[in-house]
Amino acid sequence: MSDSDVKEPEATTEDGDAKGDARDNESPAPKGDAPGEGAKADAAKADAAKDSAKSDAPPKSGPYRPTPGKPLIEMSNVTKTFHKGKEPLTVLDGLTLTIAEGAFEALMGPSGSGKSTLLNLIAGLDRPTSGTARVAGHNLEKMSDGELAKFRAQNIGFIFQAYNLLPVLTAVENVELPLLLTKVPSGERRKRAETALRVVGLSDRMGHYPRQLSGGQEQRVAIARAIVNDPTILVCDEPTGDLDRKSADDILALLTKLNQDFKKTILMVTHDPSAAERATTTRHLNKGRLD
Ligand SMILES: Nc1ncnc2c1ncn2[C@@H]1O[C@H](COP(=O)(O)OP(=O)(O)OP(=O)(O)O)[C@@H](O)[C@H]1O
Ligand SMILES: [Mg+2]
Repeated sequence: MSDSDVKEPEATTEDGDAKGDARDNESPAPKGDAPGEGAKADAAKADAAKDSAKSDAPPKSGPYRPTPGKPLIEMSNVTKTFHKGKEPLTVLDGLTLTIAEGAFEALMGPSGSGKSTLLNLIAGLDRPTSGTARVAGHNLEKMSDGELAKFRAQNIGFIFQAYNLLPVLTAVENVELPLLLTKVPSGERRKRAETALRVVGLSDRMGHYPRQLSGGQEQRVAIARAIVNDPTILVCDEPTGDLDRKSADDILALLTKLNQDFKKTILMVTHDPSAAERATTTRHLNKGRLD
């Protein structure tokens, strides 16, 4: 991988080919640089075109290939009931939601309304009690725990309010962590982590420990960790909740860049109306359903 992988992508058009190219060549952590990768990418694009022609066909094994304009997240009549105390608690109650490929959506709602619960279902951290959750071509409600873990590793990047960096590891080592679960060789792991840190603007902080970083910088390391696997979807649960206005704006600008230039589909929970303004759509969760 070379520095050219992290340069700002040139302007893309709305047509699918340009978006496919952006993902193949300019995503923060391309899957490989081997000779012949271009031909493989072309073949993959042809496969994606075939898949979109018969839209219900499950994707082939491996990471989801984007098809612009296609629904990427489809939650249909989803309920989620927790059984902790004496009474069952129904948090989501017949919720239906479709999010298209390439969207940047904000999700708002009162505390306890089920925003994190919904994110967890979309991200494959939990399964609905009833209804269907189809994400990136997979029906999550039917998948085993192991299948869900694989789905998450290939498709989802997580960004939380708490940065959850390991204090004994440097920035670049923290970003490398998700790749330890994959077969990516160690040299390549380090290169991809460095690339992701460059994308978030922290090339000069790779060897810093979390305690040597500001809160905004720690969140940028966490975002680099979320994109190092080149996921299709970023789920962000109050990503600016602990930050001052300036740092929050920097993080929101970075998310906008990941959406526009790197074609990440983003779903962001927030309590901050000015953060929600950065998204293209804002939805409100209330009494288990979306307004
Ligand atoms: N694993 C669980 N077991 C039992 N109850 C749960 C579980 N997860 C969430 N809940 C309950 O579901 C409700 C919704 O929780 P959730 O975390 O989704 O709310 P939220 O909208 O994200 O709130 P906040 O804005 O405060 O983060 C809460 O009443 C919570 O206690
Ligand atoms: Mg929450």
